[in-house]
Formats: sequence, structure tokens, C-alpha cells
Amino acid sequence: MNDIEQIVSEASKKIKNADNLTLNNLKTEYLGKSGVLTQILKSLSQYSIEDKKRIGSQANKAKSIIESEIENRKDSLKKILLDEKMRNERLDYFPSFYFPFPKGSFHPVVETIRGISAVFKSLGFLVAQGPELETDWYNFEALNIPKNHPAKDLQDTFYIEGMKNLLRTHTSSVQIHVMEKHKPPVKVIVPGRVYRNEASDASHSSTFYQIEGLAVDENVTFVDLKVTLTEFIHRFFGYKLNVRFRPSHFQFTEPSAEVDMQCPFCRGKGCKICKNSGWIETLGCGMVHPNVFKAVDYDYEKYTGYAFGIGVERITMLKYGIDDIRLLYENDLRFLKQF
Ligand code: PHE
Repeated sequence: MNDIEQIVSEASKKIKNADNLTLNNLKTEYLGKSGVLTQILKSLSQYSIEDKKRIGSQANKAKSIIESEIENRKDSLKKILLDEKMRNERLDYFPSFYFPFPKGSFHPVVETIRGISAVFKSLGFLVAQGPELETDWYNFEALNIPKNHPAKDLQDTFYIEGMKNLLRTHTSSVQIHVMEKHKPPVKVIVPGRVYRNEASDASHSSTFYQIEGLAVDENVTFVDLKVTLTEFIHRFFGYKLNVRFRPSHFQFTEPSAEVDMQCPFCRGKGCKICKNSGWIETLGCGMVHPNVFKAVDYDYEKYTGYAFGIGVERITMLKYGIDDIRLLYENDLRFLKQF
């Protein structure tokens, strides 16, 4: 009896700290064919019936205790090994070689949008947004662009779902959304991405950013437009630059104009950037066409308004002296790190 108890306590001690290999050996040592307990059970024949029963059941109990202790130890070993594996294989997202941490910065296009928006906010404009996926109505029809207009050509516009939808070709589509939802007075700018189906080169990209402007109220005149855009250019580029308005054409404005500013690089003397003209084309604008007001149920006898569209990349390139628009979209860190 004492022997068996001793065997169990001795086995327990060994099992407690055993690794897997030792556990297998212990199993053989105690429970195997010639194991300690098996030997005891085999030798029962030499005892009296009474002793046989007692020692037999004692030995069997010991067997199952040792067996389950070995299994338990195996289970906890599994857990320990898994924990260790997790600890060792954990992904360290901040390894020491990342320090000192490189500081991020805004993309130059985003920087320009923020800068332009700040100027217009200071002039009393709110910032609005609209969808990039549009219908013919918002992008063309409501803006007085007729069915056969060249801008609607497949060469210029990305159509989607069998001509049902399209990727907006300008942010002017958001003029319509804003006026559908709000009665005058309205004074908003709309920064956003636009798409054109055209090959990319140093000055063209199939996707770029515009900032639309729209102001509608009673008695809004071309003077308001001139003052606002001149003030914008002065605040954004510098007060000493001259600004001029040239007659132009857009379907959704009448009259329409193109705004040039004096070349900030040569101050109007003529250089490579302004192609020796001394002027740089910066944006398109005009007085909102009555047909546009009709499309959104505005009283075109009572209200007038102006609209403008700024090409963000163009301004970005001017501001930072970048000569290829593709640099803005290649995400080459050597380029981006300069900002
Ligand atoms: N939507 C015009 C373009 O993409 C720009 C513009 C906006 C012109 C508003 C006049 C008024 O070229």
C-alpha cells in the first residue's frame, strides 16, 4: 500500500515539470508493458484473494491517476508552447528602426485645397460636397449643356452602366444639388474630384480636382464676381499681381469669362512658365445662366448669381513650381517628402 502511494507521489513530482519527451518516458516507466504499476498488477497472483483485491484496485487507481496527470501536463504544455509561439511571432508594428518616427504631411493637392478653401471661407463661403457618380441631368442637362455638345462625347466622358450614369466631368454638377436643396441666398465652394476620358501627359490627367464656387442672391452682379475672384488671387498668390478677365464661353454661365493672373514667376515680364505672355490662365467663371435657375426652380427674374471653377492641380503646380501633373499622382516618396 505504502509503496503504491509512494510511487504515485514520486510520479506526480516528476510529471509536474516534465517536457513532452520526459512525459512519454514516464508513461512507459509507470504504465508501459514492463512499467512499475504493470509489474505490480502482474505479480498479484502471489497474494491472497483479500490482498489481490486491495492491491489490485489500489494499483489500478494509481494507474489512472498517473495517466490523467500525464494528460493534464501534456495539455498545459500545449498551452505554454502556444503562448510562447504567440509571444515570439507577434508582429511588432513599431520596431525600433522606425524611430524617430517619420512625420507625415499633406499631399500638395490637399494642401492647395485647404489653402484655397481657407481664403473663400474668409470671404463668407461655406464648403459643400456632392457625388462623383452622376446622372446626365446633374452633369449636363440641368447645366444647359445640350444633347449634341462635344463634352458629352464618349471621348471626353466616362460613362457607366450603359450610359445610365457617368463620372462627373466637373464639379459644376454640385451647383445643381446645392440649389435643389437650398433656397437663395447661397454662397458655397465645392472641392472635389472630377474625371475626363483623355490621355494623360504633362498637363492632363484623367482624374483631377476642381473647386467650384457658386453665389446666388438678389442683386448679385459681375462686379461681385470680379471683386471676389481678384481678392482670392491676391490673398492666395500675393497682392501685387495683376488680374484680368477675358470673355469666354460656358454653357451654364452668361456672360462667361476666363481669369488670368500676372505670372508670379516673372511678374509679367515673360518666362518659360507663362510661355512669354506674362499671364497665366487660372480659372473659368461667369454669371449663372437663367436656364440653370429654371432647372432648379429658382425665380430667374428675382435672383442672379455667379459661378466659377478652379483647377486645383494647375494652382498647385503654379504655387510649387511643378512642371508635370503626373508627379502629383505617382506617389513617389522622394517627390512627396518635399512638401
Ligand atoms: N465647369 C467648368 C469647367 O470644368 C468651369 C466653370 C465652372 C466655368 C463654373 C464657369 C463657371 O471647365
